[in-house]
Amino acid sequence: MKTARETFRTIWLHPDDPATVQIIDQRRLPHRYEIVDLRTHADGAIAIRDMLVRGAPLIGATAAWSLYLAALEACSSANSLARQLQFVRSAAEALAGTRPTAVNLRWGIERMLAVLADVSDSEAMVTRLRAEAETICEEDIAISRGIGEHGAELLGTIAEGKNGEPVNILTHCNAGSLATINWGTATAPMYVAQERGIPIHVWVDETRPRNQGSQLTAWELTQSGIAHTVIVDNAGGHLMQHGHVDICITGTDRTTCAGDVANKIGTYLKALAAHDNGVPFYVALPSTTIDWTISDGLRDIPIEERSADEVTHVSGLDGDAIREVRIVPESSPVRNDAFDVTPARLVTGLITERGVCAASEEGLAALFPERAGVG
Ligand code: MRU
Repeated sequence: MKTARETFRTIWLHPDDPATVQIIDQRRLPHRYEIVDLRTHADGAIAIRDMLVRGAPLIGATAAWSLYLAALEACSSANSLARQLQFVRSAAEALAGTRPTAVNLRWGIERMLAVLADVSDSEAMVTRLRAEAETICEEDIAISRGIGEHGAELLGTIAEGKNGEPVNILTHCNAGSLATINWGTATAPMYVAQERGIPIHVWVDETRPRNQGSQLTAWELTQSGIAHTVIVDNAGGHLMQHGHVDICITGTDRTTCAGDVANKIGTYLKALAAHDNGVPFYVALPSTTIDWTISDGLRDIPIEERSADEVTHVSGLDGDAIREVRIVPESSPVRNDAFDVTPARLVTGLITERGVCAASEEGLAALFPERAGVG
């Protein structure tokens, strides 16, 4: 299946049934492209918790659409507006507990609840929630495109010194189209660079334990015809030591107002290796992943701990079937922290929809003066 960049979406309203939201089951990629219907807010919560959808912006958008579904459910089960609103608010609480690290979850939910402030009847409740979920998605696409434009400038500058050789970019996890509504954050500069004819090649970290790099990033770069090579997570430092990496670009699930970033486990080690080897380490982010209320990432960002099964088992294609196999002894204890925090001092710059800035309070405040100081 070849993605048409302009029309690709990771979440959408069913074209013939406005009571159904559709998503791609990302657990099945790259081997199967399967669309799943969400009909209730509980379906949305399961999709987020079990990682049918993942990636900070898409988590926020799925929560938003789930609240629209909750409003439809409320209308069919409760008769007073007050009860219906209560139902939607309890759905919001259930959704908020699904994945703790990505701040977009809270952001998306708060934004949806805000449109209910002065709602006067059930129809208005449903209409407003649907419109807000659609707006969140359209805005996310524009934001990702903006990140792409600014990031591609950086890649173009590096390309000038490479005599036509490709710019080698290392990325971790999937901060791609699949993690947003389209374009991605870390991948957006790659897609815009491709449009501009800037030669690039991407080192794709496999990203254990769930392998979002080897399964999702590799899949979407393949769909888009971008040259890439999958590497094991431990290879990045070695490649940097030998001059094979020009720039690292990763995503983030939560960025503090001082520029610390929480991203998929292992990001910190890549930043350390980049620092040691003088390789620029950039983080691409929509402003929706900035948590303006905190400044110390290590202290204040909650790190999700996920099931040990993700470490003890791997899944893959066996003939025509997707199978899981155990790779760890039954009796070995396992720990599975899903994210780590890279301190701002290791981040060369933040690529946002408004431009590139230093990973610092001053850098972010200069780009987003209206938000600075809210915490
Ligand atoms: O656990 P995941 O797959 O949701 O983790 C995703 C990441 O770490 C991404 O890099 C991050 O969400 C940024 S997505 C634009």
